[in-house]
Amino acid sequence: MFLCFLIHGIVATVFGATGFLGRYVVQQLAKMGSQVLVPFRGGEDSHRHLKLMGDLGQIVPMNYNPRDVNSIKTAVAKSNVVINLIGREFETRNYGFEEVNHQMAEQLATISKEHGGIVRFIQVSALGASASSPSRLLRAKAAGEESVLKEFPEATIMRPATLIGTEDRILNRWAMYAKNWGFLPLVGGGSTKIQPVYVVDVAAAIVNSLKDDGTSMGKTYELGGPDVYTIRDLAELMFETIREYPRYVNLPFPIARAIASPREMLLNKVPFPLPTPSNFNLDQINALSVDNLVSENALSFADLEIKPHKLKGYPTEFLVCYRKGGPSFGSTVSEKMGSADVAPRF
Ligand SMILES: NC(=O)c1ccc[n+]([C@@H]2O[C@H](COP(=O)([O-])OP(=O)(O)OC[C@H]3O[C@@H](n4cnc5c(N)ncnc54)[C@H](OP(=O)(O)O)[C@@H]3O)[C@@H](O)[C@H]2O)c1
Repeated sequence: MFLCFLIHGIVATVFGATGFLGRYVVQQLAKMGSQVLVPFRGGEDSHRHLKLMGDLGQIVPMNYNPRDVNSIKTAVAKSNVVINLIGREFETRNYGFEEVNHQMAEQLATISKEHGGIVRFIQVSALGASASSPSRLLRAKAAGEESVLKEFPEATIMRPATLIGTEDRILNRWAMYAKNWGFLPLVGGGSTKIQPVYVVDVAAAIVNSLKDDGTSMGKTYELGGPDVYTIRDLAELMFETIREYPRYVNLPFPIARAIASPREMLLNKVPFPLPTPSNFNLDQINALSVDNLVSENALSFADLEIKPHKLKGYPTEFLVCYRKGGPSFGSTVSEKMGSADVAPRF
């Protein structure tokens, strides 16, 4: 079966491809010539940016419903690889942490095993996934990993740290908040240590794990960036890049929880959807109460022949759009081209 996979190439169904990490995974799979099936549940807008990443017919969007087993079976019917990127860091009226991060993963693994022709199953979990985590999301992720390995023991588990990149949900939000309010709240004083990672490196790790001779099967990889940051260090990097004076308000955990709690309490009690939590997400605040770093003996990027990028520089350059007056590339272009007569773009 593995030989067949090597000869005929990869046909991958990527669940959760419409999200942040998804676009980079699809792009890298398409670049190496694989066919990519993209199950989606929203409207056409949710997937159309992905079609441009491959040749005509290479990226195939397929409408599906995560609660309809038959539609999932159809989405994986012609594949030999399944990648599960489905996840969500907040709950809604319709979907809880358990269903999205655990039960859906389990269901995909069961269906993939029954299929018989799925050679590789990649489950994207999260760094810090543990049954004893203070975060309900990370507990659900841990349960998801366990169920996936029970159903599909050869699955590869990827545990990325906080993802950084153009569409990220941390630096963009901080920059927007700082621009709007003139300061950034630091939960717990910003002393929690994290190991944020460039999204493109995580996508490369996923794709590289498919290229090996099966050595990554049944293994768990912890994918953290090369540097450990405190939340405050990362905020400093953001302020430096957007060229704003760093102003912080220290927010003790009990106060941050008090601000975030009403949404969670009202979620299933009011007859209408509540706004998406951004800077004050109760579960994320709870997750910040402990450091989240790659464990000492964990398999990581090096085992997949990848050297992760440092965040300072290209990976965080997207933040220039938050600078006063917009990005100013003029001097950089002139310097690179060694010419004084290159007109600035702004
Ligand atoms: N972003 C991070 O910093 C980070 C860090 C560690 C781990 N991770 C994990 O990495 C994976 C990808 O992350 P991401 O940042 O790309 O997430 P994302 O941008 O939120 O995308 C999540 C994907 O999951 C799908 N999804 C969410 N809820 C769903 C539901 N109820 N039913 C069906 N599909 C659903 C979304 O589909 P729709 O587009 O239809 O909503 C989307 O395609 C997730 O498992 C996440 O937990 C992310």
